[in-house]
This record gives sequence, C-alpha cells and structure tokens, in this order.
Amino acid sequence: MLFNHVNLVNQPMNITAQQLRTKYLEFFKSKGHEIIPSASLVPENDATTLFTGSGMQPMLPYLLGAQHPKGTRIADSQKCFRSQDIEEVGDNRHTTFFEMLGNWSLGDYFKKEQLPWMFEFLTKEVGLDPKFLFVTVFRGKPDINVPRDEESAVIWEGLFKAAGLDAKIVDNSERDGIQGGRIFYYPEEKNWWSRSGVTGNMPVGEPGGPDSEMFWDYGAQRQIHEKSSYKDQVCHVNCDCGRFVEIGNNVFMEYVKTAGGFEKLKQQNVDFGGGLERMLAAANGQQSVFDTDIFDPMFQVLELDQEIMSNDEIRKARIIVDHIRASVFFAADGVEPSNKDRGYFLRRLLRRSMVMGKLLNLKHHWLEALMGKVVAGYAESYQYLLDKSENIYKVILAEQKKFEATLEKGLREFEKLMQKQGEVKGKDAFDLYQTYGFPWELTKELAEAAGQKVDREEYEGEFKKHQDLSRTASAGQFKGGLASHSDKIVRLHTATHLMNAALRKVIGEDVWQKGSNITEERTRFDFTHNTKMTPSEIAEVEMLVNQWIKMDLKVKKEIMPINEARKLNAVGVFGEKYADTVSIYTVYDEKTGDIISREFCGGPHVEHTGVIGEFKIQKEEASSAGVRRIKASVF
Ligand code: ALA
Repeated sequence: MLFNHVNLVNQPMNITAQQLRTKYLEFFKSKGHEIIPSASLVPENDATTLFTGSGMQPMLPYLLGAQHPKGTRIADSQKCFRSQDIEEVGDNRHTTFFEMLGNWSLGDYFKKEQLPWMFEFLTKEVGLDPKFLFVTVFRGKPDINVPRDEESAVIWEGLFKAAGLDAKIVDNSERDGIQGGRIFYYPEEKNWWSRSGVTGNMPVGEPGGPDSEMFWDYGAQRQIHEKSSYKDQVCHVNCDCGRFVEIGNNVFMEYVKTAGGFEKLKQQNVDFGGGLERMLAAANGQQSVFDTDIFDPMFQVLELDQEIMSNDEIRKARIIVDHIRASVFFAADGVEPSNKDRGYFLRRLLRRSMVMGKLLNLKHHWLEALMGKVVAGYAESYQYLLDKSENIYKVILAEQKKFEATLEKGLREFEKLMQKQGEVKGKDAFDLYQTYGFPWELTKELAEAAGQKVDREEYEGEFKKHQDLSRTASAGQFKGGLASHSDKIVRLHTATHLMNAALRKVIGEDVWQKGSNITEERTRFDFTHNTKMTPSEIAEVEMLVNQWIKMDLKVKKEIMPINEARKLNAVGVFGEKYADTVSIYTVYDEKTGDIISREFCGGPHVEHTGVIGEFKIQKEEASSAGVRRIKASVF
C-alpha cells in the first residue's frame, strides 16, 4: 500500500542528543525522581543475560520488592545492546547499541501519573505534535486473568482530547487497518513486556505486565517501496513497515509468573523505556536515527556523502557507524574480542565493520578517526570514554590488525579467481570461506561490484558436502579404543564436552561432572549443583553450545603424563582416579588459539564442532542431593 504524500506539520525542534537526555532527566527530577548513572553493558550479578538490553535489567531486584537505596522514583539513561537486532541495522530505526531513557515507579505511582507525564514530556518538552502520536494498549488475556487495559485507553483518550484531538479507540487494527484510530488494542505478542517476552515464555519468578507503547508517525512522507513485503499488507501502527516507529514503552509491571500461572506482585511498578535516538529523530523531524547529531559527525569523518550514495551503500555505512559505536562502548566496559560470549559479539561487530569498510573503499585509518568521533561525541555525558580511550583504541585496533591480514589474502585470491575465470563460482565462495574466513556476504558483494552473481545454491551445496564429508571422516577418527561408534554417538560425545564448558560458564566454576552416559538417542550428564536451573540458564547453555558448534572449532587429542595435563587445567570427572598417562581432548579456535574446553577423556570425538548439528537440552532434573541431571541431544 502506498501512503499519501502529506507534509509533516510538526515544527522540528533542532535539539541535540545531549539536550534531549538532560531534558528527560530534568523533567523526571521535577516529578520527584532520583537520577542514577547508567549501569554497565555487562550485567552485574546476573548470569542469565550476556548484555544489558533494557533499562529495567539492573532494576530487577527492586521491581520484585527489594528497597532501592534512592527511593521509589528513579530515572536514568541506560546503555543497552540488543544482539538480536544486528540484521536490522541499516533501516531507519534499528541499532545494536542504544540509550534507553528510563523512569521507574517502584510501588509508587501508576498509570494515571505515568501516561499524562509522558504526554506532557513528549508534546510540551520535546515539542512533538500530538497529531503524529499514536498509542497502543493491552487487549487482555482472560485465561491468565489479566484484563483489557481500558484504564490506559481512557487516560490516553482524555489526554488527546485536551490537546484538541478526537482520539478514536480501535481494536483489531492488525487485521482491519488503522480505521481512523489513535489508540489501539493489541494482544500480548505486542503489548506485554517481560525480559523473556510473552507470558508463555516467562520462567517462574519473572516479573512482567501489560504495556502501552507510543508511536511516532515518521512517515507521512514515507513511500513503501514497490518491492517491499509490506506493500500489500494492511498497515497498522505496530506493523513494522517503518512508517510508525515506537519511541517509548510504558510497562505496568505488576505481575509475576508462578508455578500455577500469574500472581500480582506485592507492588505496582512502572517501567518506562524510550529510545533516545528515536525520540531525537522524531523531535527534529528527521526520517532516521542515523540523521541525528549522534551519527552525523561519524558519517562526516568517514568522508561519505550520503547525498550521492546508493541505498545499499548507505546501509553499509550505517552498519559501520552502529557497530563501531557499540564496540567503543563494549571495550570501555571491559569486553575484549574473543570467540566466546560477549567477546564473540565484539569480534563479530568489528569484523563486519571492516568488511563493510573494505566494500566502501574507506580511506586508510578510518577506524581510528571514527572511534575518535564516538569518544568525542559522548565525552560530555560519558566522561569515562575519554579516560579509557587509549585502551579502547588499543583493543579495537589489535583486532583490526588480526583480521586485516586474512582479509587482504582473501581479497588477492578473489582477484586471482576473477582474472582466471572471469567469475567466482559457488564453490570458490566456499573455498574463500574455508581458507580465509570470508563470509558469504563479502564474496557476494565483491562479485556484485564486478558485475557478477555468485551461485548461492552451489555455495550451500559445497557447505553441506563438506559437512557430510567431515562427519564421515570424524566418525572414523578418534576412536579412543572403543570398538564401534555410530556417527551420532561421536557427535554427542563432543557436544557433552561443550555442554560441560557452557554449564561452567553459565552456572559457575563449581560445576563438576559426576558422570555421563551416552546412547544413540541422547547424552545424560550429571553434575554438582544445588538448585534447579532456570529456563534462561538452560537457554543460555544451549545458545553457547550452538554458537561453538557454528564456529566449527577444532578438536585435538593429546596423550601426556597426568601431571602435565593437570598443569593445563584439564577438567575431569569429580572424584575419578586417572592413570599416569592420560588422553586430553581440547576444543579450540584455530585462528585465535582460544580454548573452549579441555577435558580428560578417552573419546571418541569429532574433529570439528561444525558437524555436530543443532544441540538441544531436553530435560533438567534432580539426580541426587546436590547433583543435577541433564538429558540433551543433537539433531
Ligand atoms: N522494559 C521495557 C522495554 O525494554 C520498557 O521496552
């Protein structure tokens, strides 16, 4: 569907990020809030998540009833990172790193204060024309006894009315369209917030609640591209086509998941989170968060003229500035590139930026210049970036150096192929990946720049062939003296080592294997631990194992005297006696030398983790006092 061409009537503010941040915090200070500094991107005392992904994360204990030292009204601007948005970066509104403006009522005020304050803030302080504001409220979920949020709908209606707008309340807009409405009911997929999403996904003990989101109509001028998948779809404020952009979310966090369903928390909380970058773009009448004063100097230092760039080039440049900004903040919070956990994300952000930089032909030293702009741009609000800048640059440039040599070699090989055959085949793309770690996207884009297409199917076919081959090879490889092993049992053996390593990361180093048993169907693994694992711990262990499988790590067997093996910190079975000479299996990254797992073990194991397949935990239960048992398999 094409949207009518209407001029934006909102009078743009011309406000900076720094001014908006201050305005927000001052506003909530005037409403009795204590302002606290942003917590680290690396969550403290919370093993369930890798990154701080929302403002409420550090507030969790207080939302559950603990007393906050600063009282019951708190506000801040929290640094956030959402890895799940990495593929969306490049559109008008998604970034991996962002700042979330947040205010909380910890059992203090509720809907009838929060919504009018937000309306006042957005329309009076930020100067948004309410004509371009749209809001959503929770439709209700009778089977868990959470009613439709009519109270919020009526409050919004009154606020718009006082601003001279007749705000119609509409249901089912996701099916029937906007219908001239301004306040919309949505189901839990859109209007329920918890750290784990919809009610069915929440682990016991997790708080959550209905929410009311605020959308800005960016796009009276926006045209949906003919090729867009949204072209023929019903447009509604929460349809993701890019016209309406969520600028803030008021969560009424008053429920907690229990074994039997849901209960009300002891206190009614408000958890508000608003994207600083998005609000800023709205305030200034800009079409994209990348047009704001946060990113503008970054594009300038790259010497890119967006006026003459293609959409695809703009996307690449946006990825670079987003990823480097996130990387600077990561490094400042102590994250270093590696093949694990947070370090893995930092490495991915940096390598992806370098590939994009190559494709855009950025001038020498662009990375230094860009990091400098990020630090300078944030120095006023985040002074520590300046203090730590030397170390930040060092960490990031070391990673650049590491990757550059591989990138250069791969590029030369690419050129050679082009000269020799005038094209790059799917199989070549696979070889470039195997030998130089060239992601598919890089080969594809290089080929496109030379007017060629690479056969994706052939590439995928080679990939699969290689996986099948190494699976067969590895099944015959590390036999460990045992008579016969099916392919699946061998894969399960290595998966069990990875799971052991993941458990030690997620739960802690006091996890020790008590025993294991592997059949054709599954691995059964007993380990020391006192409490039931939470669903998010289980999910994180699965995620880590699958991440290591994807990285196709190398598995190496060594035979050595037990004393030497102990010096290498190899992990064994708790209470087990070992012979004088032992075999050790190490799972490690060939490129960086990072060790993921090192265990005393007779085998058998696969040679490369890539052949293991998808890892899944099927059951976690008590085995005996202080010992838990996991059953898991690979598919
Ligand atoms: N915690 C809510 C969110 O992240 C405000 O959207």
